[in-house]
Amino acid sequence: MILPVILCGGSGTRLWPMSRECYPKQFLQLGSEYTLLQETLLRLEPDSHQAALLICNEAHRFICAEQMRTIGYQAGGIILEPEGRNTAPAIALAALQARKNGEDPILLVLASDHFIGDITAFRHSIKQGLALANRGKLVTFGITPDCPHTGYGYIQCGAPIAHDPAGTLGAEVAAFIEKPDAEVAERYLKAGNYLWNSGLFLFKASDYLNELAKYRPDIVQACEQAMVAPQPDLDFIRVNREAFLAAPSESIDYAVMEHTRHAAVVPMNANWNDIGSFEALWQTLGKDSHNNAHIGNVTALNTRDNLVLAQERLVATVGVQDLVVVDTKDALLVAHRSQSQTIKTLVDELKSRA
Ligand code: GDD
Ligand code: MG
Repeated sequence: MILPVILCGGSGTRLWPMSRECYPKQFLQLGSEYTLLQETLLRLEPDSHQAALLICNEAHRFICAEQMRTIGYQAGGIILEPEGRNTAPAIALAALQARKNGEDPILLVLASDHFIGDITAFRHSIKQGLALANRGKLVTFGITPDCPHTGYGYIQCGAPIAHDPAGTLGAEVAAFIEKPDAEVAERYLKAGNYLWNSGLFLFKASDYLNELAKYRPDIVQACEQAMVAPQPDLDFIRVNREAFLAAPSESIDYAVMEHTRHAAVVPMNANWNDIGSFEALWQTLGKDSHNNAHIGNVTALNTRDNLVLAQERLVATVGVQDLVVVDTKDALLVAHRSQSQTIKTLVDELKSRA
């Protein structure tokens, strides 16, 4: 059975002031009765997975545990990072935990902040990927790009990988390029044989650790040290603080996927979106007849194409277009929708002033 590994240690700064350091976006309900983290678990096919391993920042442990409790989910463990070191070390901790007792399960690594509209297609892609992971592949799931987005990894598709008379399972990865600049992304889009990396991965725990050891032995060593005598505490697994803090901060994409020769890609046409910005959130939410997406107590007159999130107070808009308005208890954001990516810079500036 597959072991899901849920990465929920990101900070989600582009969704400020909705997403905060103390309460990042994966723990928020954004247009659904469930939070993004809960949605991630609930979309897994029932009875075909082991209980998921979650990996989060230790500051968020009770939020994480409480969100499992409210949906009646018994996690296989919640690994606590004293500080985030990005996804390559986080996945290494999960792989080492999974390999305890000599087992070597297939890990389904999932981000905790994605929207997936077509769950049947999502589950189908995972089944296709499973056959490849069993053959020792590091499987990625590819999304057909519709713009030269610079916040994603790009996968150049290579030779198809044959299955049986039923057809192909996927393709070899000819090249993996993490977050190219705008000019390069434009070239890839035009070339037509590139897919976006969805940020979901499927591989045997040992295959990931072996590839990581080949390209970034420093990360493996630090994570092995961190897992020498993990401290169990309820469902929490505390790693050795000093050892883990010595791990370099690097994503799986730069550490492994750009270098490995064992990657494969399975297409995933599941109406996927990384809710990485207010623009992306606006795209995934339901709209009124004037293309406005509203959450909370909002009244709008003669407005079009806006995203308005009202956490407590009534928010009213008149005669405006293409705006993001986010009203929370202690901060109000008004931005042009086209500036969604700039909010990270704004947060950096606010931090430097604090
Ligand atoms: N535990 C833990 N620790 N989780 C983390 C950490 C960490 O230090 N850093 C990030 N995460 C979690 C985030 O919460 C998110 O669920 C997931 O890992 C991916 O991290 P992001 O920071 O959102 O990555 P990204 O969106 O910039 O890029 C990745 O995803 C894209 C698709 O959404 C890459 O894999 C790209 O190649 C890909 O296109
Ligand atoms: Mg992301």
